[in-house]
Amino acid sequence: MDIQEKIEKLRKEIELNSYLYYVEDNPKLEDYEYDKLFRELEALEKEHPELITPDSPTQRVGGISEKFEAVPHKNRLYSLENSNDENELKKWYERVLKDLNPGASGQMSLFGTQSMDNTAGDIKIPLACEYKIDGLAVALTYKEGKFVQGLTRGDGIIGEDITNNLKTIKSIPLKLFEPVDVEVRGEIYMPVSSFEKLNKKQEELGQKTFANPRNAAAGSIRQLDPKITSERDLSIWVYGGIFEGKDAPKSHSLTMKKLKELGFKTNKITVVDGVEGAIKCIQKIDEERKGLDFATDGVVIKVDDIHSQNELGFTSRVPKWATAYKFPPEALWTTLKRIDFQVGRTGVITPVAILEPINLAGSVVSRASLYNFDEIKRLEIMPRDRVLVKKAAEIIPKVLKAEKTDDSKPFKMPENCPSCGAKLIEKENEVGLWCPNKDCPDVLKGKIEYFVSKYAMDIEGFGESLIAQLIDRNMVKTWADLYALSLLDFMQLDLIKEKSATNLINALELSKNCKLNKFINALGIRLVGKESADILTQYFKTIDEIKAASLEDLSSIDGIGEKMAKNIYEFFKDEDNLKAIEKGLSLGIKPENIYTISDNLKLKGKSFVITGTLNEFSRDKAQEILKSLGAKTPSSVSRNTDYVIAGENPGSKLEKAKSLGVPVLSEEEFKNLIEQ
Ligand code: IVH
Repeated sequence: MDIQEKIEKLRKEIELNSYLYYVEDNPKLEDYEYDKLFRELEALEKEHPELITPDSPTQRVGGISEKFEAVPHKNRLYSLENSNDENELKKWYERVLKDLNPGASGQMSLFGTQSMDNTAGDIKIPLACEYKIDGLAVALTYKEGKFVQGLTRGDGIIGEDITNNLKTIKSIPLKLFEPVDVEVRGEIYMPVSSFEKLNKKQEELGQKTFANPRNAAAGSIRQLDPKITSERDLSIWVYGGIFEGKDAPKSHSLTMKKLKELGFKTNKITVVDGVEGAIKCIQKIDEERKGLDFATDGVVIKVDDIHSQNELGFTSRVPKWATAYKFPPEALWTTLKRIDFQVGRTGVITPVAILEPINLAGSVVSRASLYNFDEIKRLEIMPRDRVLVKKAAEIIPKVLKAEKTDDSKPFKMPENCPSCGAKLIEKENEVGLWCPNKDCPDVLKGKIEYFVSKYAMDIEGFGESLIAQLIDRNMVKTWADLYALSLLDFMQLDLIKEKSATNLINALELSKNCKLNKFINALGIRLVGKESADILTQYFKTIDEIKAASLEDLSSIDGIGEKMAKNIYEFFKDEDNLKAIEKGLSLGIKPENIYTISDNLKLKGKSFVITGTLNEFSRDKAQEILKSLGAKTPSSVSRNTDYVIAGENPGSKLEKAKSLGVPVLSEEEFKNLIEQ
């Protein structure tokens, strides 16, 4: 046997045993036997590097990337509509029946010419029921049986290329059992047991812990260094695949069968008859789910027949042929010990319910959010009341109801800030009470905590207690000051030795090459969160462009409301904010716009406004096509608009376009443009 043959034989053996271990959960080799094969292969490949192939099992952990490329999805990733109870599920089913059976004159897909007055119970079409996995959606592309690309969901139209990180997940096959072309959809998750272990380890290392398995999986998959991902125990459940050609499976359940045969890790799927069958199946799953080692938040019910699925189609956001039945969140009664107050990063005072601790949905709950003073009025809640508290998978516990006891005490509004003692004020056009002190320590802490958080600058190691020390010792007055801290500065802090101080400096350094949308989110502009920051970066290439935008420019952006536009405008006029940004940039922060990375998008950065009715496209569809080509589609015309597409009966937008000299395209011209 020559070396090449020997290497191939080893690879086959390793792949098979890895499949048995990670996918089938049924290992045939002892760990040491498997390790021996692996080391043998590694040694041979080291001697003959020219024989290494990207799909070799030794190649799962690749090099560090600088960023995740934005890549358009070949097929859009849709979301799911929720059914919150049996009634909503039955309504969904009725709509399915109605759409598949549009009366005697319509085309029938499944059951001949039934009349319209059939109720949901009468006609039974096959429905596939499966776990709704609470993880992160990914799309995996296989060409001739080889894993070539894996993308995050992103906004469903454009995702991020995380191929190298996905390759580290052993239950994702690098090579299928047949050389087919297929795009597979699945959910990346972290087993609950691994999540608990990881949190324990993070706590011991003084690093931030994750709120739930889903966040832990998300934090692990979005690491630029695949080595870190490979150290976290991630897995996949595949829940769909797109096969093309005449041999494509005819039902969802057959698709799943085929995916399993190809080597994918698929979960249990039950095909039932009609909605009554689905309800029975949901009850069974609800009983089983408590003992599972993965988080589920419901059951997905899908019309099994692919032809019917195609006939039902999609809304702009979700398939009409599927629904997610959500399990009702757990709720329990306890005693409200008292109501405390907190001051957040915006200065607004929020009341918090301090509870007699209870065990809810797997964790101990001793606090619950009361949001604002209106909520206190609405609930008519008083200290020492009995309160009903609920906790859904990732939501902060919430008080649903309050009942009086003999012990209940009247509620008193606070007068001073719980952090700095300043006299609280009311603000014009805003609800609630506010701390007016710009230097209030808790406001600063909240701002910095937000700045370093995952969806903002995502800086590792900056936990609450570290930030509190930096502020209490006056070492940091704004987020930009973080970047001026030295190793010695950090080493002055309690519990920080040279190694952790170096890690903190490195984490800050790493965060300098950030994404513009995350940086804008991190600035903490009032009302501007992750999504609006994203919209702004689709619009403006750089921070300077946002700074220079007029109030009119900002409020003409689809998705940026008037109040938000005003906040953004005022934020960039404030001297202190401008100084912080200038300082941050001069200390090396380099925000990069992800929406300008993909150069292959031909309408990149162009802005189109549609007015009137198009014949061949719904407005949603036309906007979706434009976005998939990199364009923006605001709802109103401004000087920044590149084209207006005018259909039949155009509105005032056409006049505005003419008055501003914006070029106008007919539907025909629009079609030519996208077909080019
Ligand atoms: S089907 C077009 N099946 O839930 C069909 N999704 O809330 C859409 N999910 O983005 C997806 N388990 O990431 C499907 N068994 C399952 C699922 C599942 C979890 C996720 C998926 C989707 C999200 C929608």
